[in-house]
Amino acid sequence: MTEHIKIEQQDGVLEIIFSRPDKKNALTNDMYRAAREALESARHDKSIRAVLIGAEGNAFTAGNDLGDFANVSSGKGGEPQAGPFIQTIGQFEKPIVAAVPGIAVGVGTTMLLHCDLVYVADTAKLSAPFVNLALVPEAASSMLMPARIGYVKAFAAFALGESISGPEAVALGLANKALPLDEVLPAARSAAQTLAKKPAGSLVATKKLMRDAETILARMKQESAIFGERLKSDEAREAFSAFAERRQPDFTKFTS
Ligand code: COA
Repeated sequence: MTEHIKIEQQDGVLEIIFSRPDKKNALTNDMYRAAREALESARHDKSIRAVLIGAEGNAFTAGNDLGDFANVSSGKGGEPQAGPFIQTIGQFEKPIVAAVPGIAVGVGTTMLLHCDLVYVADTAKLSAPFVNLALVPEAASSMLMPARIGYVKAFAAFALGESISGPEAVALGLANKALPLDEVLPAARSAAQTLAKKPAGSLVATKKLMRDAETILARMKQESAIFGERLKSDEAREAFSAFAERRQPDFTKFTS
């Protein structure tokens, strides 16, 4: 277990809270593992009828811990846990509500594509700058993001690293409501509790009809193979070193 994920259960709702605010809730392998295990147990626990994913502090998550990425890139570190977490959330049958208080980078944004209701702060910034890190989109976002917000917006997010504000996320269909920061978690909790009182069988069946889990999983597997290769590329190593050294990366020294 890790102290960086807090799990609480109340009135049929399981809350998974990212709790590493000093690192902008960047997700470590231990955090992914804890979040995945919580989802797995929620899947089988009949008393849990909805899940809420939120965060402490004013960031949702700065995405995958870049130190962990650097370890994988240089052949150190354990088995990456992002993939199993993403696959679990992608196939999760019960409704998931997200409360996004601020920045949501990388998987912080792509996991929202697997949440059923999303509440963001007015000041939130959603970004998925995979190309800036010499990586490729994950969590089936290469398919779900263009379908949701349109190809050119999605490409600008992935390739230029353009971020999407809270109100823009609502306009693009990535979020339900943009709210003042202190109203985000209460709104998400209230929605999750409302869902927990609905007929669970109907909710699960509705979600299943609305999402093609098989196609989503197949795309995740495709992305994951390329992502794994990219992680070990010279370009990615340069991106991770640049972050650690607080400098801009120079990709021009590499050819494709
Ligand atoms: N992995 C590991 N540590 C991270 C992190 C990440 N993804 N994102 C932020 N942190 C750490 C910083 O290193 C810093 O640690 P320190 O205080 O020990 O130096 C701390 O969190 C605060 O981050 P900082 O960069 O000072 O905050 P900021 O408000 O200026 O910027 C971000 C916030 C998210 C814009 C910036 O940290 C960033 O770009 N992070 C990388 C995001 C990313 O590329 N994620 C992977 C996506 S696939």
